[in-house]
Amino acid sequence: MNRRKFIKGLGITSVLVAGGGVWRAHNQGVFATGEGAAYQEWHNWKSQNKSGLPGLVQSAILAASPHNTQPWLFQLSESSIDIFADSSRNIGAIDPLLREMHIGLGCALENLLLAAKASGYSYKLDYFPDESKPEHAIHIDFSEGDALSSSLFHAIPHRHTNRGPHDLTTPVSTNQLQTLSMLGEQFSKAKLIWLNKGKPTFDFLNLNAQATDELIHDEEQSMSSFRWFRGGWDELQEKKDGVSIDTTGIPMAMRVAGKMMPVLSRQSGDQYFLDAMKNLTNVTDRVGIITVEDVADKTQRLQAGRYWQRMHLWGTTQQLAMQPVNQVSERIDRAFSQGQQSDFSREIQNLISHDEWQALMPFRIGTPLREALPSPRRLVREVIV
Ligand SMILES: Cc1cc2nc3c(=O)[nH]c(=O)nc-3n(C[C@H](O)[C@H](O)[C@H](O)COP(=O)(O)O)c2cc1C
Repeated sequence: MNRRKFIKGLGITSVLVAGGGVWRAHNQGVFATGEGAAYQEWHNWKSQNKSGLPGLVQSAILAASPHNTQPWLFQLSESSIDIFADSSRNIGAIDPLLREMHIGLGCALENLLLAAKASGYSYKLDYFPDESKPEHAIHIDFSEGDALSSSLFHAIPHRHTNRGPHDLTTPVSTNQLQTLSMLGEQFSKAKLIWLNKGKPTFDFLNLNAQATDELIHDEEQSMSSFRWFRGGWDELQEKKDGVSIDTTGIPMAMRVAGKMMPVLSRQSGDQYFLDAMKNLTNVTDRVGIITVEDVADKTQRLQAGRYWQRMHLWGTTQQLAMQPVNQVSERIDRAFSQGQQSDFSREIQNLISHDEWQALMPFRIGTPLREALPSPRRLVREVIV
């Protein structure tokens, strides 16, 4: 009798535990990756008619941005669009000089212009048209032109930052590296520098891990970064921004486990981040660095953002994995904002070994071993003012 009661009790407990697990899994979006309001705009791009100027914004918002802050606002008139920086969406101590925010605005601009060409608009661009309003980043006048759809335009809803490991047995080809370099030819003040495999790549990734270590031990930087982590599914669906477990590049079983567990603390998240950055030397095929003449020049940052977006779209057509790795820049700018000069400035310039170019944004690229998943997006109507 006792044994029977015990087994029965065990059965009920198992059902309850399993039921609780399913409930938690449901609440944490385990069965809904890429679904819900936070992902609606990715589906809309594919299914909806993108005509008129609002249709261009539909493409712009699917661009990359630092920590997925989407720091943009769009003002539309009959034949023009103005893009404004939304400074309330700056990452604080991570991006005190707004380097990344401007690059992100450039990314959105590139998508918008590809969509404009595909819709038969020609355009005239003005960067920072009003010196007294630094948040007014871009003014674009549109007129009728020839429709020119491109493979880059069609790649817009398929581009996702891939933080996973690379297949080191299938390196990025020399032809692909050359094409990526050529994609930026129109930007005379931006240039791509590839680090050689072996020591230079290894040195950079070690530098990046050191910078990550410093960053997570700088309480203000750690907190500024954590503010954009969306560990809870409800928060993610409500805010529709930030970085989430689904986009970390870890295997599916770990993603499920990560969602089922209590939301990660800042300290645990920082430790995971550092371990991941230390491991990059084992899982990275290539490192490139977007350089510009002057990292403080806002227009050059916008152009570098356009270049990154264009490269990433082209990389998407080639099924390549791409991920910016910016901790060195983030430490350099943090030191500068505190009136100091970081040693990382000199060390990264040594790696580039070109005096006339300054490192703006390093990234890694390779053949993916895992698929990258979409990140949340605010709705078009939420970013049009
Ligand atoms: C200026 C800039 C800096 C970025 N820095 C990093 C970085 O250091 N590490 C990283 O994993 N992703 C980085 N990203 C990628 C963003 O986190 C990513 O674009 C954002 O989360 C949206 O996701 P998606 O690109 O997949 O659409 C950066 C993107 C931009 C535009």
